[in-house]
Amino acid sequence: MRTQSPSSDLDFAGPVVALIAAAGSGERLGAAEPKALVQCGGQPLLAWSLAACFESKVVDRVVVAAPVSHLAQVSELVSSIASDNSSRVVVTAGADSRSGSVKAALASAVETFGQPAIVVVNDAARPLVSGSLIDACVAALGDADAVVAAAPVVDTIKQTGAGNVVVKTLDRASLWAAQTPQAYRYDVLASALAVPDDQLKAATDDALLVERAGGVVKVFSSVEPNPKVTTAFDLAAVELMIGSGSS
Ligand code: CTP
Ligand code: MG
Repeated sequence: MRTQSPSSDLDFAGPVVALIAAAGSGERLGAAEPKALVQCGGQPLLAWSLAACFESKVVDRVVVAAPVSHLAQVSELVSSIASDNSSRVVVTAGADSRSGSVKAALASAVETFGQPAIVVVNDAARPLVSGSLIDACVAALGDADAVVAAAPVVDTIKQTGAGNVVVKTLDRASLWAAQTPQAYRYDVLASALAVPDDQLKAATDDALLVERAGGVVKVFSSVEPNPKVTTAFDLAAVELMIGSGSS
């Protein structure tokens, strides 16, 4: 039985912790400050995913991985947003790779709040995530080791070899673009992340590490738009979506 609020219909043998990966520099965005602190729709980008974690009916605790260089600023921002939720959230230093930051956040979660049952990983770079998407992700876990929010691929995907010559057209019906949130059983994620730094650096998401370790990873359709802010164009597009009430 979960003992912490908020209440939910979903029962787990322990708490649910959400990790927010916010420690990237945002090189491709090219802003003067880390991407998580860049203004998006009237507030810093990180504020959107943090609010979604607080809105969730299943998330008990939240850990934000922040750039080491901006720990104080991120802590200040999180405190200003958390209000009644301040005892449920902690900020920790990230690492030099995304999965390294997730690993650091997971260690901080265990140290601060104790071992969770379920871990939900979110990128601060996806501001349109909602509490209900996080809840749907956790609910979709079922008997799997991990579940990943994803969008069906709409383009036809070509695989190329030398000289950009197409060697294969992949079957689009079975292709998904992976996003966050991603929900994991704690022990599965902890052991998947217990790999050398070069493997953490090469991983584009943590589910890849679970797949590699032989775990069962499922996808579920995120349905609503859930884009990642990577470039200045993405930021402008997401701001239009927020402005038009799509969030
Ligand atoms: N991230 C992180 N720690 C890192 C690198 C990335 O926590 N060392 C986080 C980012 O803050 C972001 C998410 O992982 O929320 C997805 O990464 P990405 O979109 O690549 O963000 P950045 O790494 O910041 O951007 P870039 O690759 O352009 O530098
Ligand atoms: Mg990056």
